[in-house]
Amino acid sequence: MLTAGSAGSAGHFWSRGVLLVMVGWSGCWLPWNFLTAAGTEVRQVSIEEAAEWLVTVLKEEPEDIRDNVDGKQMGRPLAVDSAVRWMTSFESSRSKYGPATPFVVASEDRFLSHCCVRFGETQLYPDEVVSALGVVYTIPQERQKGWAKACVRAATDFALKQPGIKRVVLLVADRNLEARKFYESLGFTPSSHTLLNNDIPMTFWTAQLGIGNEPES
Ligand SMILES: CC(C)(COP(=O)(O)OP(=O)(O)OC[C@H]1O[C@@H](n2cnc3c(N)ncnc32)[C@H](O)[C@@H]1OP(=O)(O)O)[C@@H](O)C(=O)NCCC(=O)NCCS
Repeated sequence: MLTAGSAGSAGHFWSRGVLLVMVGWSGCWLPWNFLTAAGTEVRQVSIEEAAEWLVTVLKEEPEDIRDNVDGKQMGRPLAVDSAVRWMTSFESSRSKYGPATPFVVASEDRFLSHCCVRFGETQLYPDEVVSALGVVYTIPQERQKGWAKACVRAATDFALKQPGIKRVVLLVADRNLEARKFYESLGFTPSSHTLLNNDIPMTFWTAQLGIGNEPES
């Protein structure tokens, strides 16, 4: 269940004067790209904008945090053009995805949080096109204010509205306890599929349609 509160119920919470009115995923969502009272909004941005920002902010992070952001691939201090290439297409031994659609939480021109979704194929779910969530990141001074939750909800809502998409998958480093708590709070569940990504043990997590996650039509 991808909701802030209990199944199908309406929840309301305040974050630093910003009212995020949330209605359960199984009910209906207010549009995610509305401008909040504090001038903070969730919006879709270009790959170039996202990559430029991520390369800058990730440089400031300790290596173990950077390693968590997409299993070292985006987390390595990249040049902007190689980050753009990496976000434009992705292929591994078991998955092949098209370009990322990036979402940010922005306070005017300042980005606070980011995530993206891609569409493609993975051997884990061979007979379907899946969406993959990635590069989930909030700048350190803005953590635990609900920004990543708002961003991931917008991205998964967008993904699950695409024709034929029934599932959102993502890879989470097993040692990343904060991230695991975060995805649990959004209704993602760990699968039995694991791998080593640059020596980091990781598990695939999923959120599916049909278990109360239907986005607003
Ligand atoms: C994981 C991360 C993206 C969370 O971002 P955030 O904006 O702080 O997350 P939110 O404030 O939206 O958190 C929402 C929920 O996640 C959980 N959560 C977030 N941070 C947590 C922490 N440090 N410890 C425990 N739970 C946490 C909470 O359950 C919280 O729900 P609640 O406050 O409604 O109870 C952020 O810590 C981050 O950027 N970490 C470094 C990069 C990374 O590890 N990315 C994930 C890669 S898979």
